[in-house]
Amino acid sequence: MSTTQPSKTVSRSGRFTKGPAAEVMAFSESVSYDWRLWKHDIIGSMAHARMLKSIGILTAKELEEIIEGLGKIGEEIEDGNFEWKTELEDVHMNIEAELTKRFPAGAKLHTARSRNDQVALDMRMWMREEIVDLMGELHALQQALTKLGERNKQTLIPGYTHLQRAQPVFMAHHLLAYVEMLDRDKGRFRDAFERVNVCPLGSGALAGSTLKLNRKMVAEELGFVDIDDEPQITRNSMDAVSDRDYIVEFCSAAALAAVHLSRLSEDLILWSSAEFDFIQISDEYTTGSSLMPQKKNPDMAELTRGKSGRVVGNLVSLLTMLKGLPMTYNRDLQEDKERLFDTADTLRACVRIMTGMIAHTKVQEDVCNAAAEDPALLATDLADWLVEQGAAFREAHHLVGAVVALSETLERPLDKLKISELKKIDKRFTRQALEVFSTERAMERRQMVGSPGIKEVKRQLTFWKKRLKR
Ligand code: ARG
Repeated sequence: MSTTQPSKTVSRSGRFTKGPAAEVMAFSESVSYDWRLWKHDIIGSMAHARMLKSIGILTAKELEEIIEGLGKIGEEIEDGNFEWKTELEDVHMNIEAELTKRFPAGAKLHTARSRNDQVALDMRMWMREEIVDLMGELHALQQALTKLGERNKQTLIPGYTHLQRAQPVFMAHHLLAYVEMLDRDKGRFRDAFERVNVCPLGSGALAGSTLKLNRKMVAEELGFVDIDDEPQITRNSMDAVSDRDYIVEFCSAAALAAVHLSRLSEDLILWSSAEFDFIQISDEYTTGSSLMPQKKNPDMAELTRGKSGRVVGNLVSLLTMLKGLPMTYNRDLQEDKERLFDTADTLRACVRIMTGMIAHTKVQEDVCNAAAEDPALLATDLADWLVEQGAAFREAHHLVGAVVALSETLERPLDKLKISELKKIDKRFTRQALEVFSTERAMERRQMVGSPGIKEVKRQLTFWKKRLKR
């Protein structure tokens, strides 16, 4: 990237007598990161130029030159042969200056346009693609989780609350919980898309233009249309150049998705510890220790958990940056880009690595099933049994509490207590009561929609396999 300091750039010519100080350029430039918007900037400019021609501001020849010039510049950027100049501040000025150098008609391109509506346009176009891509990545992760669930639809684990063993569930049920979360994440991105997909061009710096632009034509050409193919354009020029709520929405959906991934990571980290030993993450997705030869560390999950902090931080940065900004455009808004880019890149990388890791994870079926065998996990089932015999649930809860205390005193598991011992606690206990300590029975009886019973989990797996099929 070049760093020479000409005294005049298009935004300073006429008004200024001196060029900007070198440190001013270094401090304020954004091309080092917003160059990523080049494709959208070029496509947006082409659409703007076509519209300018349609309203008689550009001649056919001028339009042709602009389209050709922009196309050529695009190719050079793609091939890495374009020289970005820091002194031209941002991607928009770099492309326009280069175009004008090649074709004088380039000087007409910025008619009735400001970088303020241009940058809003580029960002919205960039985000549309990002949303579609990210949703695809989330979809793939859902598929990987469903597959792992499908392979383990008979594997039981203890479900936990407070990280204490609570009640048995199928591993598939646990994994599908994340599939549900990710589905809502996709939904939030889909919602955000609708509000991103509105064309701000024509808003000018803040107050539109005296020239009569055809805003709908530009919107249509750039795909800013709703499901009925109706062009979507912003209704208020000041709003269009000053708010970044569409970016906040994206980053907020991303933050929540990252938090979901972080929780999934935490589960995988716990499960791969010797203490749990529920899963084995394959060598390809784990790392070793530089000192301890025996170590196999779940670093990918830890990094994903750690990176969620960045994504959440980006959201907070954006909200803080926006808070208290007077209308309309202020340069503070340039700070949106790095936060947005980092959010999108980080989340995408996390979702991808998770998908790969899940696909390379083996469930230790025997260990899981053994952990879920503890009859104490079915204490609630015993209380339910008492309810079926007519006891009030509070009373049943109290009685089973006494049964658990007895089992602890006698150091004998719940299912090994004698009927005579149970009867001393309450005479309603019969031999049948002990039948609740069959995990098989327990998983057959949990039949309601949403519950972890064998039939319902199979039904849920079928539902997701079908829904996630592409
Ligand atoms: N690079 C700027 C940004 O990202 C573009 C808009 C500049 N507008 C201005 N009036 N200085 O916000």
